[in-house]
Amino acid sequence: MNSMNCDISAVLFDEHKIQARIKEIGCRISEEYKGKNPVFIGILKGGFVFLSDLIRSISIPIEIDFLAVSSYGAGTVSSGAVKIKKDIDIDITNRDIIIVEDIVDSGLTLQYIRDYLEKHDPASVKICVLLDKPEAHKIEVSYDFVGFNISNEFVVGYGLDFAERYRNLPYIGILKEEMYS
Ligand code: IMP
Ligand code: MG
Repeated sequence: MNSMNCDISAVLFDEHKIQARIKEIGCRISEEYKGKNPVFIGILKGGFVFLSDLIRSISIPIEIDFLAVSSYGAGTVSSGAVKIKKDIDIDITNRDIIIVEDIVDSGLTLQYIRDYLEKHDPASVKICVLLDKPEAHKIEVSYDFVGFNISNEFVVGYGLDFAERYRNLPYIGILKEEMYS
């Protein structure tokens, strides 16, 4: 028995559901970028599990890179103050880039990342997010590909953490409130 399971109040998406949705998104991206060689930029740390599954559902040549940011500290509410912890290595000037992020909450992190990467003059920028919490947006949010919309609850697993824990859960679940209140 996985002891982390006891901290979860409900499983939202199990492994099977996540993989099925990722295959659909992978097909769409492969179609849209046929004949191109886009750079997938995974946002660390939360986006690394999603990125690793997503790229294996892509049937065209691609490159990958990572950008590490932090905005939350150990809490569950976004501070809005985003810090770059690790920059990208690939020169993305005139490249087609696809930002791969775990979750959109207030939208502030994604806005910061998009503005930051657009300064490198890429040929195009698209955004792929696994989860979105539409009720939590604090600014207007736009992206191109999304896995699932969820309600305004704190979720963990499949790369998503609370205080660096639970990233290794194979499913996405709601963290019991008593774990952080
Ligand atoms: P935003 O700036 O408020 O949109 O927050 C985005 C970032 O906060 C994401 O990249 C996640 O790392 C983190 N985050 C937001 N909501 C959750 C959640 O429910 N669980 C885990 N991390 C979250
Ligand atoms: Mg993140």
